[in-house]
Amino acid sequence: MDRRTFLRLSVATGAATVLPWYLWGSRSALAAPAVLNTPLAIPPLLTGRSEGDQRVYDLTLQSGSREFFSGYQTPTIGINGPFLGPVLRARSGESVAFNVTNQLDEDSTLHWHGLRLPGEMDGGPHQVIAPGATWTPRFTIHQPASTQWFHSHAWHRTGPQVYKGLAGLFYIDDSLTESLDLPKEYGVDDIPIVLQDRSFNSDGSFRYVDNMHQRMSGMLGDVTLVNGTVGAHLQAVRNRLRLRLLNGSNARIYNLSFSDGRKFHQIATDGGLLAAPVTLSQLRLAPGERAELVVDIRSDDNVVLRHAPLRRRIPMMRPWVARSDAESFDILGISGTANSPAGAGLPDRLVPGQELKPESADATRRFVLNTRMMAGSTINGRQIDLQRIDHRVRLGDIEIWEFENRSPMPHPMHVHGVQFQIISRNRAPPPANERGLKDTVLVDADETVQVIVKFDDPADDRHPFMFHCHNLEHEDAGMMGQFVVTA
Ligand code: C2O
Ligand code: CU
Ligand code: CU
Repeated sequence: MDRRTFLRLSVATGAATVLPWYLWGSRSALAAPAVLNTPLAIPPLLTGRSEGDQRVYDLTLQSGSREFFSGYQTPTIGINGPFLGPVLRARSGESVAFNVTNQLDEDSTLHWHGLRLPGEMDGGPHQVIAPGATWTPRFTIHQPASTQWFHSHAWHRTGPQVYKGLAGLFYIDDSLTESLDLPKEYGVDDIPIVLQDRSFNSDGSFRYVDNMHQRMSGMLGDVTLVNGTVGAHLQAVRNRLRLRLLNGSNARIYNLSFSDGRKFHQIATDGGLLAAPVTLSQLRLAPGERAELVVDIRSDDNVVLRHAPLRRRIPMMRPWVARSDAESFDILGISGTANSPAGAGLPDRLVPGQELKPESADATRRFVLNTRMMAGSTINGRQIDLQRIDHRVRLGDIEIWEFENRSPMPHPMHVHGVQFQIISRNRAPPPANERGLKDTVLVDADETVQVIVKFDDPADDRHPFMFHCHNLEHEDAGMMGQFVVTA
């Protein structure tokens, strides 16, 4: 929509109603409730079954419906259920095998986000699962305990499929982490928290991208789902909780804090535990990122986890970028319980940190990120072509990847098949809570971020890895590239 059309539209319908919609995304026909009092859904755990020396999981991609608002059925997609999936659980060192059956009436894929595995098992756009077909990836888990996830990576359809619910968590355990005195009882003091924003039509169906602004900035909704729960509330039954957060939203960046400003501790990033807990009072989490937090909840506490606007310069002539972070909203209410048992501990040291040294890098690659009104979002001026390999990496090499964002929009950049470490943000060292293993890093408007990464998992020309912006509308619009890792 050009400026003149927009102004004409504004006059025709009243600027007051069009403006917020135009700037902040779509306004739901069904509004988020003012009170957070619906018990937080905890997804079922799926630990698979043992078959020989493998752990086997049966997963079915299926369509269904869910009553997010009472009296309204919302058509959805889920894995082994109507919306989202179970929490998969496996141990580091284990061989895992999956039977992923697609019962949808469209092509899909299932990508293991954050997992280190061969390109062939990655579940990217090359590993299509046709309707009725079963995909059977298998691999050995060779990375530390962490909170990973899985989601559709369908060609040009990742955004809409994830939006409808095709995503879930994947926990990796190991004995080092188990030996630490941390909250670890699933659903009791170790709580999965999948954050997603949605917009609804008046018939209860999800409203997906329906205007130019959403196509450019990514889909933002004004109803927050936590594990699929609208107006979610958690009754804490221990005094110390571990919250495993996943930003499973298509495009929204959260700036999280508690309503009373209380401090909390971040113990893990995307790829696993930090060397030591980092005390914070707010946390920024971009699409695709995970963070594990430890927070103390006293018996008489009543707090709300909320999103508050990020303080950020909005370029004068580009009001269309003034999106997600302009409004505050509540996400999850948490209350304490009288006489709840004392919680687990919080060690001063978590895992030995191993830093890759910039001097050890074999190569440096630069990625210039851009977003233009007409050309859309690009990496080094290009959009993805499944026939083209953009980068060739040697197996075992250590490389520095530098993402330079020349656009007025943030881009959460994600690399498949690896866990990297952030070396710098605008040439300065990253904050303490970003000094862990990562697979997704937010590159803010006009920011340059360097990461260092060792490529230990192979991907050949037929099964390349992807790197892309995890704003799913940017990804679907082509802000993605392919690389191979070969000896
Ligand atoms: Cu989480 Cu290529 O994706
Ligand atoms: Cu991924
Ligand atoms: Cu982007």
